[in-house]
Amino acid sequence: MSKRVAILLSGGGSNMVALLDSMTGDHAGRPALVLSNRADAGGLDKAAARGVPTEVVDHRPYGADRAAFEDALHARIMDYRPDIICLAGFMRVLTEGFVSRWQGRMINIHPSLLPKYRGLHTHARALAAGEAEAGCTVHEVTAALDDGPILGQARVPVDPADTPDTLAARVLTMEHRLYPAVLRRFAAGDRAPVWLP
Ligand code: GRF
Repeated sequence: MSKRVAILLSGGGSNMVALLDSMTGDHAGRPALVLSNRADAGGLDKAAARGVPTEVVDHRPYGADRAAFEDALHARIMDYRPDIICLAGFMRVLTEGFVSRWQGRMINIHPSLLPKYRGLHTHARALAAGEAEAGCTVHEVTAALDDGPILGQARVPVDPADTPDTLAARVLTMEHRLYPAVLRRFAAGDRAPVWLP
């Protein structure tokens, strides 16, 4: 039986589209849900256009009560009985309470060569440090931010003329290759890392 995959996002969802479009043929996963914490996330329309159910769980009514938000998030996700959660630009930090319920079944993509540059503004920080290469990482989600076993990494060269935006665009094209490659393996039960290119 195929694995049901839920994708969580907050923005445009280009990684989500790459994941959805990859789940065909002999892929062990199939899309079950795309969920956003923002009703205006561009990714929601793209998912709906592909016939995938969408949901919104807005974090704002919960204020500082992360546990209440995460309970609501968990409940809505469970309506779709996913086997795997892919975080794809989901811009909320998830606490241990949520993460522990999905440990080993939830993965994330981060636009840096982890363990370097956890958190935000990764490309600006990589440029400021004079890095010769940059990239992206898919990892299992644990309670520590942008941590957890690495499931794949893709590298790109840094151009001396790069700005954070040009570097982000180059890395993003690799994200669209890496994340589907990792999900394909992960959904089949294979945690061996994918190294690109
Ligand atoms: C990507 O750079 C991803 O690595 C980061 O958020 C961005 C999401 O972009 N976590 P998109 O919504 O998939 O286009």
